[in-house]
Amino acid sequence: MYTGDNRKRPVTVATLARMKQAGEKIACMTAYDYTFAAVTDRAGMDVILVGDSLGMTMQGRETTLPVTMEDLIYHARCVAAARPTALLMVDMPFMSHATVDDALRNGARMMKEGSAQIVKLEGGREQVEAVRRLSGAGVPVCAHLGLQPQSVHKLGGYRVQGRDAADAEAMIDDARALADAGADMILLECVPSAVGARITREVGVPVIGIGAGPDTDGQILVLQDVLGITPGQTPSFSRNFMAGAGSIQDALAAYVTAVREGAFPLAEHSF
Ligand code: KIV
Repeated sequence: MYTGDNRKRPVTVATLARMKQAGEKIACMTAYDYTFAAVTDRAGMDVILVGDSLGMTMQGRETTLPVTMEDLIYHARCVAAARPTALLMVDMPFMSHATVDDALRNGARMMKEGSAQIVKLEGGREQVEAVRRLSGAGVPVCAHLGLQPQSVHKLGGYRVQGRDAADAEAMIDDARALADAGADMILLECVPSAVGARITREVGVPVIGIGAGPDTDGQILVLQDVLGITPGQTPSFSRNFMAGAGSIQDALAAYVTAVREGAFPLAEHSF
């Protein structure tokens, strides 16, 4: 069983699988540069995500759609320079995995040029073949279900997904199919707590939630939301951990502790 005492040991997908088995909560957060990667890692984070949310947090764009492979590789290299013991997950940007060939070519670039240790891609059953081939080629994959921000224009806005029973069943089927195809992790964004709990029970791989309720195997938040410095509105599923903290380091450590102890998220952060 993984315990916090092993912080010097690099976190791998096998570590996360053991944590799920042991019922130990997994703490994840985004970071986009060397300094914050180092501070985040020191706080005891299990996974650092170089997310395409950098389109908003780093570039001031309105959506993640303009983010390129080059942008993600650049920021992933900055994070990798901190040599984190946390697992380094990097997003596959919009349309970079539209075909299986694209997924293989760009997945390889993320690993070789971006130092990714796992790639994350948005999509349900239509991504099953890409996940199978990436996984077969030795690329760990996290499948992102629920609210998929790259599809914001198709969805007509950033809305909670899986509220109706048929949508929830379809999402649960997608999660099973992606895990069967070799996904090492599932990320659920903005889904009702009951859907988060059911998918977590029904798939064998770790399920990480953001606005997916308290019962997922772990939680992820965006760094700027955790620090309370997001310009404009902060999502309701997030919490400002700087409030009451003496330093950024303490705020990030408080987030890790809250996730580990099940003190975050509360009902007010859930749907
Ligand atoms: O890009 C990102 O930061 C993400 C998180 C919201 C999970 O995908």
